[in-house]
Amino acid sequence: MITASIPDFREAARRRLPRFLFEYIDGGSYAEETLRRNVSDLAGLALRQRVLRDVSALDLSTELFGQKLALPVALAPIGLAGLNARRGECQAVRAADKAGVPFTLSTVGACTIGEVAAAASKPFWFQLYMIRDRAFMKDLLAKAVEAGCSTLVFTVDMPVPGSRYRDYHTGLAGTGGLKGAAWRFAQAAVKPDWAWDVGINGRPHTLGNVAPVLQGKTGIEDFFAWMRNNFDPSINWRDLDFIRSEWKGPLVIKGILDPEDAKEAAQLGADGLVVSNHGGRQLDGVLSSARALPPIVDAVGDRMTVLADGGIRSGLDIVRMLALGAKGVLLGRAWAWALGAGGEAGVTKMLKLIEAEMRVAMALTGTTKISEINRSCLAET
Ligand SMILES: Cc1cc2nc3c(=O)[nH]c(=O)nc-3n(C[C@H](O)[C@H](O)[C@H](O)COP(=O)(O)O)c2cc1C
Repeated sequence: MITASIPDFREAARRRLPRFLFEYIDGGSYAEETLRRNVSDLAGLALRQRVLRDVSALDLSTELFGQKLALPVALAPIGLAGLNARRGECQAVRAADKAGVPFTLSTVGACTIGEVAAAASKPFWFQLYMIRDRAFMKDLLAKAVEAGCSTLVFTVDMPVPGSRYRDYHTGLAGTGGLKGAAWRFAQAAVKPDWAWDVGINGRPHTLGNVAPVLQGKTGIEDFFAWMRNNFDPSINWRDLDFIRSEWKGPLVIKGILDPEDAKEAAQLGADGLVVSNHGGRQLDGVLSSARALPPIVDAVGDRMTVLADGGIRSGLDIVRMLALGAKGVLLGRAWAWALGAGGEAGVTKMLKLIEAEMRVAMALTGTTKISEINRSCLAET
C-alpha cells in the first residue's frame, strides 16, 4: 500500500502484523484518554504562518548530549519491537544510523545489546528500567558501556505496569499456557508475510537482554510475568546514585510530567529528561506531553536538556513540540509501525517523510534552523 504519512504506516502495520502485536503497539492503558490527548493536544496547536522570509536554506541539524544529529529526533525505546520485523531492532538501528539520528534500545527489546551493537555503525542509546536484581542491572550497564552506547535513558514511569485492555482481548495478557499460545498462533497464521519473516526466519524469539534471567522460559507470558515480578516499585530518587555510579555518560530521565519532579532530576545531576507519559500506556488520565511540557521547560530548561515524546504523528508535530520548548523529540509508535510495515526500508522512509514534513513546517513558520523554533511559532487560538 502507499505510505505517504505516519498514519499510512500504521495502517500498513495493521495489515502485516498479527493482531496481538499490532494492538500491543497501538494501544494505551485503561480507557486510552491520555493516548488520545497526546495526539489531539499536539495536533490542536496552531502554527503561526510567516511569509517572505527567505527559507531557501534550512538546517535541521542539532546537537544532543554532545552528539551531532541530522534531525532533532531519536527513536524511542520500544519493548519487543524486534518482533515487528526480522531481528527488528537491528533493522531499525541501521535505518537510524543512515538518517543520522540515535536509536534507543529498550531493556526489553528482542535483540541483545551485543546484537544491536554489531548491526550499528554509530553509537546508540540504551534504555534502562529499575529492576529488583541490581546485579542484573549492573551487568546490563556494563554491556551498554562495552557496546559504546552514548546515552543512558533511565525510565522512571513504570514502578508498576498500567493495564492495557487490548492485550487481554488478543491473548497477549491474561491467557497463559497452551491456550494463549494457540490463540496467538492463529493470529499469526493469517499474516503469512510476518509468519515467514519473523515467525519462521526471525528466530530466536527470546527476549534479548532479559533472556538469561528467564532461565529458558521463552513464552511471551513468561516475559510479562517477569516484568510484573521484577520491575522495582521501591524506585526513588536515591536510586539515581546507583545509576550514576555505574554509568558515567549522559543520563536522561524518561517519564517526567511534573515540574517538581523535573527540578529534582536537575538537582540530582541528570543531563536531560524526557517529558513523557509512556505514550499513554501507564496512568491513563494524566496530562498529555504537549500540555505538561511548557511548565517543565520553564522550570528546568536552562539547566538541562528537555526532550519530549507522545502523540507525534508528523513532522509538523515535531515542530509543534519544539515550539513548546523541547530541544528534541522521541518517536515511539511512528517507528514501530514503520518497522512493522516495511522493516529497515520502512523506518528509513518514515524518517525521510518526517524530515520533508518538518521542512515545510519550518519554511512556512519562517524558521531556518532548529534553534529558531520557539513559542513565537505558535499562533494564539
Ligand atoms: C509498543 C510500545 C512499547 C514501549 N516500550 C517501552 C520501553 O520498553 N521502555 C520505555 O521507556 N518506553 C517504552 N514505550 C514508550 C515509548 O518509549 C514512548 O515514550 C512512547 O511510545 C511515545 O509516544 P508515541 O508512541 O505516541 O510516540 C513503549 C511504547 C510503545 C508504543
